[in-house]
Amino acid sequence: MKNIKAIIFDAYGTLFDVNSAAEKCKDKIGDKWESFANYWRTTQLEYTWLRSLMKRHKDFWQVTEDSLDKSMKVYEIDSSIRNELLNLYKILLPFKEVPEVLKSLKEKEFKLAILSNGTPSLLNELVKRNHLENIFDDIFSIEKVEVYKPDSKVYDIPIKKYKIQKNEIAFLSSNTWDVSGAGNYGYNSIWVNRNQSIFDNLDYDPNYKIKNLSELLPLI
Ligand code: LAC
Repeated sequence: MKNIKAIIFDAYGTLFDVNSAAEKCKDKIGDKWESFANYWRTTQLEYTWLRSLMKRHKDFWQVTEDSLDKSMKVYEIDSSIRNELLNLYKILLPFKEVPEVLKSLKEKEFKLAILSNGTPSLLNELVKRNHLENIFDDIFSIEKVEVYKPDSKVYDIPIKKYKIQKNEIAFLSSNTWDVSGAGNYGYNSIWVNRNQSIFDNLDYDPNYKIKNLSELLPLI
């Protein structure tokens, strides 16, 4: 990749492990914890897309609560752990290589930022809890435009702030649909394929595919 001026990361699922909340409650949830966690995540994302299409915005925290409530009913999970799951969602853990890779990127010339569906306060708290607050130049939230990814208004946010070209951004996400959104918009896209998944059929292929963030350094 040439002429990259900013490296921008998706947050949930890319830097932070969204399943870590349910995993910490697996004694209470039982064997279905992972299936439940995946259902909660899928429902949460569906609600973001549906709300954007319906033009009925609610912030990511409210969507996270609404999707949890449906998922707990579907999986017949006792309501006594609702608050515990939500509190754990506020302090999700980063994937293990993330802190070290971010720290080595900080020594280079690039702008480093997050661009996420999360609310500013959720993202700031998550970054602070994981001692990453000195890494990022900016934490961009979709709340600025009140529409969710992959609306192009979201991917416009860093372009407007940094006054750079779309192809001067390297964007990393584990979420295939976010990679397609960002790539179609014009960013250089890097799909972080942690789980050997299959990419989408949305007339777009990622510019690069890596297994985790450690593989980013040789690309830039
Ligand atoms: C985010 C979700 C899509 O952080 O993972 O924007």
